[in-house]
Amino acid sequence: MGLPFFTKKRKIDLPSEQPVLPKHVGIIMDGNGRWAKKRGLPRKAGHREGAQTFRTITRYCSEIGIQYLTVYAFSTENWKRPEDEVGSLMKLFKSYLEEALSDFKDDDIVVRFIGDKSGFSPELQALMRENEESSKSRDGMVLNIAMNYGSRDEIVRAVKNLCADVKSGRVEESAIDETLFSDYLYTAGQPDPDLIIRPSGEYRISNFMLWQAAYTEFVIMNKLWPDFQKSDLDEALRIYAQRNRRYGGV
Ligand code: FPP
Repeated sequence: MGLPFFTKKRKIDLPSEQPVLPKHVGIIMDGNGRWAKKRGLPRKAGHREGAQTFRTITRYCSEIGIQYLTVYAFSTENWKRPEDEVGSLMKLFKSYLEEALSDFKDDDIVVRFIGDKSGFSPELQALMRENEESSKSRDGMVLNIAMNYGSRDEIVRAVKNLCADVKSGRVEESAIDETLFSDYLYTAGQPDPDLIIRPSGEYRISNFMLWQAAYTEFVIMNKLWPDFQKSDLDEALRIYAQRNRRYGGV
């Protein structure tokens, strides 16, 4: 074991001396359906359990000093799932936005939604805005919940908005560079993810943060999301700490 790494509230043994704790962690919360199937339960039971894991891991990330956490909760492609599964996910989101997210108040967590809110019911949209409004002056970890999010969609929107600004003269074409373009994404002003974790053993990016993940370290874990524990996050952080990030250099 290497040097102990001290976080805000907890000590984790991490094996290297480089500044190891990622600023921004992304999680593709995958495997709820398989978790339920293994137990002969309906898929919605897996999502319910996954929502509990989301709550635990979000708190934990805030506790150990992660500054930004982005979780993939519902993609632009997830609407293709059977109607009753989409319906139960919407119910779950609603109950979370009504109750559980206010729990994050004690942890000082800033809640943000990335994705196209207009795809949701007016009730859900209002709850999303309420959560953003009521948490925006907190100064703890920023939690981005990706809902009706697709990275290609995000990039196309960014291009359209940027074109409109060029057309109206607000932006000079010659001023367009990677930094300016990043400001048109949902994650404007935030650092790119240092680490993306995908539980459930799938080796796919699934339309998640394609632009932002240009130099992100990926850790794939063989655990279904509802089984994912704090110790699994510790393990992902240890793996990350051993990576040698070169950003295309040597
Ligand atoms: C992917 O697993 C998971 C989802 C599409 C839903 C994720 C949602 C939650 C964990 C609830 C989080 C709640 C809030 C409020 C953010 P899958 O269904 O694709 O699993 P499978 O690959 O095993 O079928």
